[in-house]
Amino acid sequence: MEYAVLNNGLKMPLMGIGTAQIDTADQCEQYVQRAIAAGYRLIDTAAAYQNEEAVGRAIKASGIQRNELFLTTKLWIQDSGYKETKQAFDRSKKRLGVDYIDLYLIHQPIGDIYGSWRAMEELYEAGEIKAIGVSNFSSDRLADLMLFHKVKPAINQIEVHPYCQANEIHQYMQAVNVQTEAWGVFAGGKSCLLKNDELVRLGKKYKKTAAQVILRWMLQRRIVSVFKAVSMEHLKKNIDILDFELTDKELLQMMHFDTRQSIFINYNLPETVQRLGMTRFAI
Ligand SMILES: NC(=O)c1ccc[n+]([C@@H]2O[C@H](COP(=O)([O-])OP(=O)(O)OC[C@H]3O[C@@H](n4cnc5c(N)ncnc54)[C@H](OP(=O)(O)O)[C@@H]3O)[C@@H](O)[C@H]2O)c1
Repeated sequence: MEYAVLNNGLKMPLMGIGTAQIDTADQCEQYVQRAIAAGYRLIDTAAAYQNEEAVGRAIKASGIQRNELFLTTKLWIQDSGYKETKQAFDRSKKRLGVDYIDLYLIHQPIGDIYGSWRAMEELYEAGEIKAIGVSNFSSDRLADLMLFHKVKPAINQIEVHPYCQANEIHQYMQAVNVQTEAWGVFAGGKSCLLKNDELVRLGKKYKKTAAQVILRWMLQRRIVSVFKAVSMEHLKKNIDILDFELTDKELLQMMHFDTRQSIFINYNLPETVQRLGMTRFAI
């Protein structure tokens, strides 16, 4: 596994598994156990995924030492605010059954993110969290958060895949030393991305699949990837990307897939904010 070094010196695997939208808790638990056994050490969950208990059980059952795993969870909008964030963090930690969280993220740029960030700074300084960050923040929201707070976000987890490459925000984050982490790297299995002729052809050159080319492209851009890969075959293939390297020309060619648009969500629409802001979970 290769690692990113975050702006506070913490090492983070450059690739890991996401756990959103797994049908049942049992399936989630088995999936996380399979992934750990296959060599994955970065596990991404969120209070909103409502599976923290299952992830926690899988971690316990894995027999892998806690300090060898990198565990991310996220704060949902309904718990934004100083007091609410502290309470939500305690509940997440309890559900996961761990003593600390490696990375705690504000899941969406909506609600009282200032209050939440102040609570997260305190939890970070108390050693309850090894790094704090955000998700789905645009560059301007990130700049605003950094301007008025002591602790700089270590990470911004955003949508990145060949059809939505996030080049400008990635460049900005590199300039201000905030790590880019990608979700939806396979476009959620949508848009026939993994059947794209050019990606498939490029993969064949290296005896790899389109998915492996995408993960290699992410790795060479030093972007942390989290993906869902419930199937064992996918889990094994996705970690097998260290024995080939895309050329500079191929990296440049990848740029023409970019549509510069999300295929999932438009954060600029009031309806999006309204919909997300009204989404509540039993957490
Ligand atoms: N921060 C946020 O707001 C946010 C939003 C969305 C997602 N996320 C995180 O990102 C994670 C991944 O997102 P996602 O599940 O939406 O999208 P994704 O990882 O882009 O796509 C998952 C799909 O790709 C398939 N797949 C995986 N490896 C493959 C391979 N080698 N060949 C062919 N198909 C392959 C999976 O199939 P199988 O499962 O059948 O193997 C699944 O259908 C989530 O679980 C979550 O942790 C975060």
